[in-house]
Amino acid sequence: MCGIIGYIGNKDPVPILLKGLKRLEYRGYDSSGIALLQDEKLAHIKRAGKVSDLQSLVDDSSIHGNCGIAHTRWATHGIPNDINAHPHLDHTGNIALVHNGIFENYETIKTLLEKRGVQFTSDTDTEVIVQLISELYYNNEKLTFENSVRAALQEVVGAYGIVALCADEPNKIIAARMGSPLVLGVGEGEYFLASDASPIIEHTRNVIYLDDDEFVIIDNEEYSISNIQSKKIVSKTLTRIDLSIEEIEKGEFPHFMLKEIHDQKHSISDTMRGRLNLFDGTTNLGGIVNYLPNILSASRIYITACGTSWHAGLIGKHLIEEYARVPVHVEYASEFRYRNAIIDPNTIVIAISQSGETADSLAAIKKAKELGATTLGICNVVGSSIARETDAGIFTHAGPEIGVASTKAFTAQVTVLIMLALNIGRKKGVSKDRGKELISSLKTVDQDVINILRSIEDIKEVAKSTSMANHYLYLGRGINFPVALEGALKLKEISYIHAEGYPAAEMKHGPIALIDEKMPVVFIAPQDDTFYKVLSNIEEVKARGGIVITITDKINSSIKSLSDFVLLVPKTHKYVFPITSSIILQILAYEIAVLKNCEIDQPRNLAKSVTVE
Ligand code: G6P
Repeated sequence: MCGIIGYIGNKDPVPILLKGLKRLEYRGYDSSGIALLQDEKLAHIKRAGKVSDLQSLVDDSSIHGNCGIAHTRWATHGIPNDINAHPHLDHTGNIALVHNGIFENYETIKTLLEKRGVQFTSDTDTEVIVQLISELYYNNEKLTFENSVRAALQEVVGAYGIVALCADEPNKIIAARMGSPLVLGVGEGEYFLASDASPIIEHTRNVIYLDDDEFVIIDNEEYSISNIQSKKIVSKTLTRIDLSIEEIEKGEFPHFMLKEIHDQKHSISDTMRGRLNLFDGTTNLGGIVNYLPNILSASRIYITACGTSWHAGLIGKHLIEEYARVPVHVEYASEFRYRNAIIDPNTIVIAISQSGETADSLAAIKKAKELGATTLGICNVVGSSIARETDAGIFTHAGPEIGVASTKAFTAQVTVLIMLALNIGRKKGVSKDRGKELISSLKTVDQDVINILRSIEDIKEVAKSTSMANHYLYLGRGINFPVALEGALKLKEISYIHAEGYPAAEMKHGPIALIDEKMPVVFIAPQDDTFYKVLSNIEEVKARGGIVITITDKINSSIKSLSDFVLLVPKTHKYVFPITSSIILQILAYEIAVLKNCEIDQPRNLAKSVTVE
């Protein structure tokens, strides 16, 4: 949520910062801006709209400098307009700052500063910190710029990643982190600061992940990291990043989302690489080995997550309870963190997060740790805050996911949960044969995905016939109920069609009232134990004139006669079916959004990485 970047070095910062902003645009895209420092002068340009709008303004200007900061915004305080865009400057115009996060006590500080005569130009919480730094700096001869920033940060409550410049100190960049991610890139005579490593990797592979309470000063080609308050130097290790540029570009695809849907031909296998043991019917999960005794003796497991990752968690509950026979509670991280959940040293708390940075999920894990639970992370981004905060974990290795609507990260999360459930289950008495049966199906999933992608034309037909609908209903049972929720979420996110996911049998308790001949109803209906029950629900929808779209693994005459459209998923294990069927739902949402001409990779009001509460 909001992307920030800073550069200091011997190159022209403008192209580096603008390209960096494009890489970070998935974090927010309602306005952007840049500030540059040269010869003790600060210049800045900012504007509402996408980074491309900023780019044209910058191209038409003569703005230049030898170091700079830039920002792409997801509005929290103040509407997305030119004035509220970052960087924010103090009233002297000498200090500029970009911020990702929220200063919760900004109103108190603002009132205080206003009483002292400071005039604010924006509605943002961020302007408050830059004006506060300015007040401290210009009214205390003894305070250096660096110490003014430290002092201001001690006055604020909330989350932040900030990067700041001061015209009085033209070769210096200052940054700090508390709650919002910040990465320092260490190049040859040049340094980068960014919300994640994606804008850095084309310049250097060496990065340092900053932790909370850390303060960075880059001055005269040297960097130092210290504690914000105590100023004590913190020694950090350089991490080498392996990510390739191709992985973060969309190549021949019109959208990242479509690329990432296609990536599933190999990303699910990437998640399983080296982890499947067909011979013993089990899985090898090196990341949790040291905590296995705690996991095996746990009396309960909580899974906490947000958005799509929460849906993966609901699937995980079915899997873990089935194989490991331990009670699993799945909770939105935003709820979990503020309630008095029953957590003790016999509890395992698993956070699922693609980005590993979602503020609520991170806070939930911190709380669970405080209460003595063993914490596990299922994250996609290596080096992310949740991955580092948890005791142990399993990376999903799906590769970078840029499209705001999660696709390959979701199927990778479900894959990890299958492997985890089986791993615990086998140690608790699940037979080798049951394990082998599941693993055999996992091993053919690549081919299943290829076959699904071959049916894109059929899915497009469904999209064409239903894209004018105002409402959509998704129904599934058991482990496929979360698939219905995820299908509905995908459609909402990128096509702006109102969609709801429901347990199929619950339809009778409300949603059935909505059904008429304009309402498409998607049934996720594999031929499993509940198939005939779901078939009755299909009959009920048909009887009321609804448009029936059935996603199944075997077509029979009833399905054929009752459905307006049938989309076939290759036959697989019932616990692998949620992975393959959800890919059909991803494609359906994508094709509908294409027909509606929506901004697929950057849907309105959303951001990929939600680093504020
Ligand atoms: C945002 C994204 C979703 C994502 C959710 C949780 O809402 O738009 O796609 O599922 O955050 O993100 P996480 O990175 O924690 O999985």
